Amino acid sequence: MHATTPSPCSSAPSAGASLAAHPPANLPAWGRLRTLAAAPQPHLRDRLTVADAARDAALRFEAAGLRLDATRQAVDLPIWHALLALAREADVAGQAEALRRGEAINATEGRAALHPALRGDDDLSAPWGPAISAAVRDERERFLAAAERVRSGTWHGHRGLPIRTVVNLGIGGSDLGPRMATAALAALATPTVAVRYVPNADAWTLHEALRDLNPHETLFVVQSKSFTTPETRLMADTARRWLSDAELDPAAQAAHLVAVTARPDLARAQGFDPAHIFVFWDWVGGRYSVWSAIGFPLAVAIGAASFRQLLAGARAMDAHFWHAPAERNLPLALALLSVWNRDFLRCPTHLVAVYAERLRHFVPYVQQLAMESNGKRVHRDGTACAVGTEAIVWGGVGLEGQHAYFQLLHQGRHRVPVDFIGVDTEDTPLPLAARHHRLMRDNLLAQAQALALGRDEAQTRAQLRAEGLDAQTVKALTPHRTFPGNVPSNLLWLPRLDAHALGALMAAYEHKVFCEAAIWDIQAYDQWGVELGKTLLHTLARSDGAAG
Ligand code: F6P
Repeated sequence: MHATTPSPCSSAPSAGASLAAHPPANLPAWGRLRTLAAAPQPHLRDRLTVADAARDAALRFEAAGLRLDATRQAVDLPIWHALLALAREADVAGQAEALRRGEAINATEGRAALHPALRGDDDLSAPWGPAISAAVRDERERFLAAAERVRSGTWHGHRGLPIRTVVNLGIGGSDLGPRMATAALAALATPTVAVRYVPNADAWTLHEALRDLNPHETLFVVQSKSFTTPETRLMADTARRWLSDAELDPAAQAAHLVAVTARPDLARAQGFDPAHIFVFWDWVGGRYSVWSAIGFPLAVAIGAASFRQLLAGARAMDAHFWHAPAERNLPLALALLSVWNRDFLRCPTHLVAVYAERLRHFVPYVQQLAMESNGKRVHRDGTACAVGTEAIVWGGVGLEGQHAYFQLLHQGRHRVPVDFIGVDTEDTPLPLAARHHRLMRDNLLAQAQALALGRDEAQTRAQLRAEGLDAQTVKALTPHRTFPGNVPSNLLWLPRLDAHALGALMAAYEHKVFCEAAIWDIQAYDQWGVELGKTLLHTLARSDGAAG
């Protein structure tokens, strides 16, 4: 095919690889891509109906058990090679090495972004250094042991009763990751302990979560990296009030409260038992924290062994991302194709359509991952972006979307690239599960094909005539029943819906987001955009307080 280009991560870090500004529009490959995009583009129908083994091979990827079929993307080999050149010129490799070394790539907060260290295999020779590996290992053993105590019924409430329900109080990254993974791995759920997630301060949400529970068999997990989020603090206050209404005084409440935070000092000051405080570090972004003690409720749900499998899947995807050649690199491919669709095909949104109910929460999880990381408007040097940046990520369970909003995808005036996510095998213990699975799978394939190929006017006229409609009706209906097609998509397949595959999928999207930011030359690991709302909230709260 062509000479192996340096891996995004196996080459030696280039000089000044850390944070030198790379406004992408100045890169030669960006200009090349602009030229290619300006040239007449064949319809996907023509790309897909002409056999092209080289293109097919170049646009299919495998990593950590996942399969990516990107052949329905609106690219040919010249475009694909220009995208690979863009990754090289943007020095994605050097930037990824900077991440691994624990450099403060989160420059506006002066922090590293070392979430891969959370799933390291305790190898003390890892690039982030032995101290971090040891601290991660020790804290992981602490929170997994505690989770196993809850699962085994040996964690008792104040009155000596085993815990029957864990209620997680947290929002954003302190909710979305563990909640998504708990739902995705529902087949692994511990039958003796239920895990419920309360993600917001709407009173009804907490009321609903608590109304059928016995306080003496309930454990609250207060998850907050900052331990200052007003919503979570209010939820924790209500939880404490609910416990005290069951005659559990503050000392007695300790057996019913766990804190997970990067600020153990604040947790202690709020009366949490130090033995029930699990920590992570400021070099872990909230949306990247599920691999840390933020995964405690998930570990209660699925058990320590499966949680370690989740880490192993992510670690396998890390190894692929660090070492696979760029042209074989699955997360890099997701990023490059996303940049092509966003910046050169000028598609402002991106749909994630999951074809498994248990992956329903994957969409809000990846919305935070992508849009809170790359929803930025200035480059790392502070100059305004004239490129990208993050598309609006939306979606849901694809089979339901087909009966709700897919009309717009097929015949609307937006071109919306789609990530179809499917599962190869079915594990639901139902008599006709195989038929259900085949229907899910066939719908995913049919939708990807329909969006790519469409049905032109000639084909539509022939279809309507074949339905026996008269010439006048055919003429009138053809515009309404024609499908423009030419909508690009990725098909991403998990071998099965298990912890290893889910970990690999999550890490793939984390690395995709990293690569996009590296190419767009933006900060992926801060989130100053949430600050103003919080400031105004405090102002309002003070004025409400003043109003009495
Ligand atoms: O406001 C945004 C945010 O900071 C997210 O980045 C974070 O995941 C969420 O709020 C919750 O923050 P914390 O875990 O500190 O409560």
